[in-house]
Amino acid sequence: MSAIDYLERIPNNVNLREDRRLLRALEEWQPRFLEWWRDMGPNGFQAKEVYLRTAVSVDALGWAQFDYVKMPEYRWGIFLAEPEPDRLVNFGDHKGQPAWQEVPGEYRGVLRRLIVTQGDTEPASVEQQRHLGRTCPSLYDLRNLFQVNVEEGRHLWAMVYLLDAYFGRDGREESEALLQRRSGDRDRPRILGAFNEPTPDWLSFFMFSFFTDRDGKYQLAALAESGFDPLSRTCRFMLTEEAHHMFVGETGVGRIVQRTCELMREHRTGDVRRFGAIDLPTIQKYLNFHCSVSLDLFGSEISTNAANFYTMGLKGRFEEAKRDDDHRLKNATYPIAALAADRLVLREEPALTTLNERLRDDYIADCARGVARWNQVIQRHGIDVVLKLPHRGFHRAIGSFAEVRASPDGRLISEAEWDARRGDWLPTEEDRAYVASLMQPVAERGKFATWIAPPARGINGQPADFEYVRLA
Ligand SMILES: [Fe+2]
Ligand SMILES: [Fe+2]
Repeated sequence: MSAIDYLERIPNNVNLREDRRLLRALEEWQPRFLEWWRDMGPNGFQAKEVYLRTAVSVDALGWAQFDYVKMPEYRWGIFLAEPEPDRLVNFGDHKGQPAWQEVPGEYRGVLRRLIVTQGDTEPASVEQQRHLGRTCPSLYDLRNLFQVNVEEGRHLWAMVYLLDAYFGRDGREESEALLQRRSGDRDRPRILGAFNEPTPDWLSFFMFSFFTDRDGKYQLAALAESGFDPLSRTCRFMLTEEAHHMFVGETGVGRIVQRTCELMREHRTGDVRRFGAIDLPTIQKYLNFHCSVSLDLFGSEISTNAANFYTMGLKGRFEEAKRDDDHRLKNATYPIAALAADRLVLREEPALTTLNERLRDDYIADCARGVARWNQVIQRHGIDVVLKLPHRGFHRAIGSFAEVRASPDGRLISEAEWDARRGDWLPTEEDRAYVASLMQPVAERGKFATWIAPPARGINGQPADFEYVRLA
């Protein structure tokens, strides 16, 4: 095998050239990553040229370079946001101390667990999405899928960099394990529930990118506040890429909604399945499903782990620095939705143990803004339907709501009512089969599947009918 110049192959701003030990660890890991990518990455398109964005530096010009690349030749780089001089720990017991450039010994295990949990989601979503290329609704969408996939691969690199650079032998073992677990595998599943759910069709993919990548945004934003400075800088750069993933989700669903509304208006019916589109009630059911499984990712409402992460200065709140309080929260409280006998009430709880719920609140508010933009599309077509986020208690598997049944509008209901109504609220086998029946590939330049409108504009100033993937 010819020698690969990893310094050339791994664009970075972490001075890899000088750090021989780290370079050697990454050189060992890289072929196994590539093996994983070939086995578990996009199925069937590895030899095709894709119009992709690659980060070759973190400045305005370098972070988004567009060119045709074969995915296995994508240059997965390691980038940290520029250091903030004299940065301090901004919250918790260590507030005001200089941010850590090395792992604080007493927090080593906790910090490693946080990084591994984040890192595990990155390859998981690539695995979940690996068959979607075969049923793409257009070349434009195919390219966007692959862009998301290679960037999730880069996010894995980002976490592996932290593990290899700062956690020695344990870190290298964890890096290896990140390539061993498999989404949905019975024996070696991915760590978090939503990352073991299949992504069988493009409606699911867009909903996943909207809801589940947005969970990623909030987790990364909380870790970007970390007193462990390398983690903070890594997450800050990842957030720039994450924004595109949510764009893919929001505009993807928005274009499906648009197509549906066009057909509803044209044919004066809500039953657009006859015309090969996805009816609004089905879209609502998918929304309910993906929202509820993503809400679970934030963990229990009351969590001593969350309190500890904060007190230790490892994981902050969303936009911690912008909040106007003491950033220690020892005596503060926070209102959370809770169960009281057969009712839902707001209850004040200690602010530290409810940090998961606070992050979930920030997330829900962000989701609601996106749903409002979908509703604007519906309104513009003069259609009297409103898509809604389900209540946080709906269809939950984690936290206090896992013990009860709640309707999407937040009523506590009996098991019998749940069984009777479930098919109105969540995709049924029949809904999934219908959506699956639409998944016929459309890969001609400028053509789009019947169930989705073309995008308002293309990628990087290119037209919508650009040859985003060279299939020939
Ligand atoms: Fe990611
Ligand atoms: Fe993402």
